[in-house]
Amino acid sequence: MKKSSLCIDKHFIVGDVDDRIYGSFIEHLGRAVYEGIYQPESPFADEQGLREDVIKLINQLNVPLVRYPGGNFVSGYHWEDGVGPKSERPEKIDLAWNVIETNQFGLNEFMDWAKKANTAPMMAVNLGTRGVDDAKNIVEYCNLKGGSYYSDLRKKHGYQDPHDIKLWCLGNEMDGPWQMGHKTAQEYGRLAAEAGRIMKMVDPSIELVACGSSALTMDTFGTWEDTVLSECYDQVEYLSLHQYYGNRDDNTPEFMANTVAMDQFISSVISICDAVKAKKRQKKSINLSFDEWNVWYHSNEQDEKLERWCKAPHQLEDIYNFEDALLVAGMMITMLRHADRVKVACLAQLVNVIAPIMTSDTGAWKQTIYHPFELISNYGRGRVLNTVVNAPVYESIHGDAPYLDSVCTMDEENETLTLFVVNKDLEDSMELTCDLRQFQGYQVKEHIVLAHSDLKAINTEENPNNVAPVKAGNAKVTDGILEAVLCDKSFHVIRLAK
Ligand code: AHR
Repeated sequence: MKKSSLCIDKHFIVGDVDDRIYGSFIEHLGRAVYEGIYQPESPFADEQGLREDVIKLINQLNVPLVRYPGGNFVSGYHWEDGVGPKSERPEKIDLAWNVIETNQFGLNEFMDWAKKANTAPMMAVNLGTRGVDDAKNIVEYCNLKGGSYYSDLRKKHGYQDPHDIKLWCLGNEMDGPWQMGHKTAQEYGRLAAEAGRIMKMVDPSIELVACGSSALTMDTFGTWEDTVLSECYDQVEYLSLHQYYGNRDDNTPEFMANTVAMDQFISSVISICDAVKAKKRQKKSINLSFDEWNVWYHSNEQDEKLERWCKAPHQLEDIYNFEDALLVAGMMITMLRHADRVKVACLAQLVNVIAPIMTSDTGAWKQTIYHPFELISNYGRGRVLNTVVNAPVYESIHGDAPYLDSVCTMDEENETLTLFVVNKDLEDSMELTCDLRQFQGYQVKEHIVLAHSDLKAINTEENPNNVAPVKAGNAKVTDGILEAVLCDKSFHVIRLAK
């Protein structure tokens, strides 16, 4: 059996966990909105057509922020099409996903849904086919009390109080050639600066996210971030990162080593933000919004066969397996390890589209990736401790990959300490120790394990608990030393309390 240890010190703190790191994403895409969160004809829908069974599962996930309405979709969207009387809303083509958008669900319905789902909005504006004026109008519609054309229009639509949306994305993936209105870094940086400046003239209390690269592998990565921030540094608070991984070659060790790549991605973006800060002799730091992350590849082939111009098709419906859940746990651990700079993150997406929650006409169920998200979102609050992982490593294309991904969070008020650990070893158990003598009187309250003998095991509507966590771990504290045996290919949540 391999041996490993974690080294923590309660005074060595990475940073406070910003709860918005447990955000997610709903795009007008596939069945995310229609049949996902909104389905008036469903027996599970409330009087507004919002699916209550889905809201129940979202509430368990504890998602404090949801990005909306896209994604690629937002780059061709006219938000005005989705407000006002439903009978007057136009059906339009959506060139991002080659479908028809009925506009029966829009901004105000999303805000109603967000309230019911106990979440806050992160609203994206269209900087693809539209620009500064549109960005100004939507902030006016959402955030001004009244007494102006767009704020009064909101009132006319039945919403007396402003929506008061605090966090806004300045477009989506503007570096991507697939994006409607794709721009060079220079073009986008200028536009983001001007749109951001004017949005803040309407409401100075908002925070803004500028688009970083769509992935670490983009040819323009690095220069994109540098140029964009050089233009709009003063106007924004965050720079975005997006990244999806896939096990296309069926090489699980390499797939699991993507946490190393993600860590390098985050560190590189932090370096660029700080380099621009230095060049500009700025006091303010730019933080990171990892506002699209997940595994995405299972549905790619199927989606290529989709016919154009249908409504709410089964699109991007990845069915996740057990190894995907392990990587999702590893990705969340990686972001937590950068809690000082990663302040916002969105699991892309939330329902039906590359999602932890799936729906049918007969119910809603949890995919494998639901479980690590639920566990870390619920227990990974408080402060992140600098967690030194002493574990054997294996070679990967990203360099040495440790067999363990781990992070520790501490909640001083509630006197709890939580260890999150993924054992990536596919064959062997791993012995784990951690010196907890600084944490006098702490004992293991629960040791939750997500494990399965089959890396490709999935959950289905008929068998939704095939991959599910159990309280079956053996962690114990003796004389201040935590000891546990972590079975091969597994995710662990070890909860300690005084
Ligand atoms: O989440 C699916 C798509 O992935 C989003 O629309 C886009 O931003 C990204 O490329």
